[in-house]
Amino acid sequence: MLSEKMQKALNGQFNAELYSGYLYLAMAAYYEDSDLPGFANWMRVQAQEELSHGMKIYDYIVQRGGRVLLDTIEKPPLEWDSPLAVSEHVLEHEQKVTGLINELVNLALEEKDHATNNFLQWFVAEQVEEEESAGGVLQKVRMASDSPSGLLMVDSELALRVFNPPTTEK
Ligand code: FEO
Repeated sequence: MLSEKMQKALNGQFNAELYSGYLYLAMAAYYEDSDLPGFANWMRVQAQEELSHGMKIYDYIVQRGGRVLLDTIEKPPLEWDSPLAVSEHVLEHEQKVTGLINELVNLALEEKDHATNNFLQWFVAEQVEEEESAGGVLQKVRMASDSPSGLLMVDSELALRVFNPPTTEK
């Protein structure tokens, strides 16, 4: 059984994951409009991942007999100055999400809710990957940002990313 406080915090994280997906879709739309379909593809896959993160939390709340409560999703920004600005924003956002996950873990430890702590460890590991992949894209964009042909090469590379749904394990 989840405590009220934990249920509220998990619902908050569910909303944050959906917001991440919404933010990344806004970035995808920005890239579609900038004729960078590979970058747009990367952001679309990222948005799908965020929805799957949200659903993982949704399933866990249900599994523990809690109640999923949907709240308003904040409007994301719609414009950025450049691909570099988008890429910096992605990394910054993932770092923020890591902080949110860490706060959830702190709460689980405080409440001695070992099941939720165990569940959250998947997200702790996932955030390491998320920051690594966002940082990798940022590094490539930084190197290519002064050269349109460099940016197009990165675009071709990012076009190859495909969504791999997480395994069914919870
Ligand atoms: Fe759900 Fe990108 O962290």
